[in-house]
Amino acid sequence: MIYELELLPEAERLDFGMASVSQAPRDFSLPYAPAKSRAHVLSDSFGRVHKYLRISLVERCNLRCSYCMPEGGLDWTPTDELLTDDEIIHLARLFVEQGVTKIRLTGGEPLLRPGIEKIAEALASLPGLKTLAITTNGLLIKRKLPKLRAAGLNLINLSLDTLQPDRFEAITRRDGLDLVLEAIDVMLNSGYDPVKINCVVMRDVNEDELVDFVGLTREKSIEVRFIEFMPFDDNRWSGEKLVPYDEMLQVIQQVYPLEPIACGPESTAKLYRVPGFRGRVGFITSMTEDFCEGCDRLRITADGNLKVCLFGRAEVSLRHAMRSGASDQELLGLISTAVGGKHARHAGMHAIAASKNRPMITIGG
Ligand code: 5AD
Ligand code: SF4
Repeated sequence: MIYELELLPEAERLDFGMASVSQAPRDFSLPYAPAKSRAHVLSDSFGRVHKYLRISLVERCNLRCSYCMPEGGLDWTPTDELLTDDEIIHLARLFVEQGVTKIRLTGGEPLLRPGIEKIAEALASLPGLKTLAITTNGLLIKRKLPKLRAAGLNLINLSLDTLQPDRFEAITRRDGLDLVLEAIDVMLNSGYDPVKINCVVMRDVNEDELVDFVGLTREKSIEVRFIEFMPFDDNRWSGEKLVPYDEMLQVIQQVYPLEPIACGPESTAKLYRVPGFRGRVGFITSMTEDFCEGCDRLRITADGNLKVCLFGRAEVSLRHAMRSGASDQELLGLISTAVGGKHARHAGMHAIAASKNRPMITIGG
């Protein structure tokens, strides 16, 4: 057998940790288990079926958001330890054959990946894939969008946490608000409807801009999604900096009435609209009201680790397996074991804050 066999009790088997972010990430192999039948490879022991795969294309970014990237920088993974284009496409095909219908390209900043157009085109043409999405900071959208749109990219989330230039610079440690605002119109004019904006809300940083962001939904087909600040390694999270969903609602409702919109169980956002406004307002309440019960997401990091939970340390290296010559059946066995071991829910924000994971930039937003 080509995989290192670790004989651990079931409960511990998936709890392999990242030792330290300053070291090259450790890769681990799970015991090989024969693949379950096709319909079950992506089902976990709680009956959740995983149809949404997020693939990180790069660890690097052209911004330096404090909540995502450690201030002291990072030791980047050497390029030869990142998945190649062919490896990404191969893994994506396997997942789509097993029932994944939505893939999101993340990073770092995914538009920094050379040849992203080629990857997007190959993924968009996988039979069975319904949605190819991306999360981007927008800086390169104007240049990259025409080809990506032609390749089949059909959903975009833009990260934007402030509408004030000075603040943009303080949060991202770079200049560029004008470009990002321009990117919103470029996307709308290219037919993306709605354009989703991710706004991480942090106390004493941008909590006073909630109402301004809601104002963006008045005339444009924009879905602003307020995200509760989440703890990742070295991002200086604290309970005080978290602005809870309830509080955000209260602040907005002092100015605008919010009408709830029904959404499916796999939806991460609680959706609302201001009556008469064109766009929508969402809240991603991962910290105060988790949505683990309906979670259908899996992640592949840029260095090829499958991560079944954003907040869990468990990872399995699909890159190692592929480079050791694993067959598709063997890869499916690894994937099946990892998914089968997914926990019911995350451990709660304070436990997450106290435990080792990765910085967000190396997970994929
Ligand atoms: N808390 C909440 N959301 C985060 N993101 C990154 N770091 C955090 C964090 N600490 C999200 C941002 C961005 C995407 C790349 O990941 O919304 O849009
Ligand atoms: Fe870059 Fe997005 Fe992370 Fe900001 S949040 S540093 S834009 S990857």
